[in-house]
Amino acid sequence: MSSLDARNISAWFGDHQVLDRVSLTMPGGVITSLIGPSGCGKSTFLRILNRMHELVPSASLAGEVLLDGQDMYDVGRRLTDARRQVGMVFQKPNPFPAMSIYDNVVAGLRLTGRRVSQQQKDWLVESSLTKAGLWNEVRDRLSAPGGGLSGGQQQRLCIARSLAVQPRVLLMDEPCSALDPTSTRVIEETMLELAREVTIVIVTHNMQQALRVSQQCAFFLAEARTPGVIVEHGDTEAMFGAPQDPRTAAYVKGQFG
Ligand SMILES: Nc1ncnc2c1ncn2[C@@H]1O[C@H](COP(=O)(O)OP(=O)(O)O)[C@@H](O)[C@H]1O
Ligand SMILES: [Mg+2]
Repeated sequence: MSSLDARNISAWFGDHQVLDRVSLTMPGGVITSLIGPSGCGKSTFLRILNRMHELVPSASLAGEVLLDGQDMYDVGRRLTDARRQVGMVFQKPNPFPAMSIYDNVVAGLRLTGRRVSQQQKDWLVESSLTKAGLWNEVRDRLSAPGGGLSGGQQQRLCIARSLAVQPRVLLMDEPCSALDPTSTRVIEETMLELAREVTIVIVTHNMQQALRVSQQCAFFLAEARTPGVIVEHGDTEAMFGAPQDPRTAAYVKGQFG
C-alpha cells in the first residue's frame, strides 16, 4: 500500500509563513490523524500533499513530498496525476447538487483524461458507492440529484467520487465536522473499511474520533504568531495516554484549542 512522506515542509501565503519544516511519514495501511488548534496549518499541510496549495496565487512552499518514494513535485509529473493519486474530501460535503448521484461519482473521471466504457463506468459507480458505504441506500435512485441526499449521504457521495479515480491516498479535512453523530459514525466505519486499500490522512478536531479511527497521530501547533510545527507524533493511543510534551498533554485534555 502507498506511503506518503513529507520532508521539511515549509509554507507561505505571501510573506506570511504558516508551516516551518514539518516532516511526517504517513505509512500505507495506517490511518494518520492530524490534530491541533485552528490556524496551525493542518489544512495547508494537507493541500500541499496533493498539490492544491499552489492554486492560491500568493502561496509558496519548500520541502519535499514523496509518494512511494517519488517526488510529487517533480517537473516531469503531471499535475492531474498528482491530484488523482492523492484525493481529497472536504469539511463541507460538496457534491454537484443538480447532477445525478451516478454522474457525481464519475465526475472526476473526465479530469483524468482516461476513456472509460459505459460498462466500466457502471462498475466504478457500484464499487465506489459500495466502498463509501452508500450503495444500498442509493442503488434504486442513481439518477436522482446528489443535492437531495442527507448531509451524511452527501459526504459519502463525495468519498465515492474521490474513490472512483482510484487514488492511492485519501486526504480528509474534518470530514465529519458538518455531520450529526450518527452520520459521523457511519463515515468512521467507512474509513476503517477503506483503510484496507487506500492510505488515509484525516484532520479532525474530535479527539475521540482520532482515537477511534487512527493508529498514528500528529499534533500541530503554531505558538504566538510563529509558523505551525509538529510538536509530537506517534502511536495515537500512546500519544493520548502518555503524551511526551506538556503542550500535547494540555491539548488532548481539552485545555485549549
Ligand atoms: N488562502 C489563504 N490566504 C492567506 N492565508 C491563508 C490562506 N489559507 C490559510 N491561510 C492562513 O494560514 C494559516 C494556517 O491555516 P490553515 O492551514 O487553514 O490552518 P488549520 O487548518 O490548522 O486551521 C492561518 O494563519 C490562515 O489564516
Ligand atoms: Mg483547516
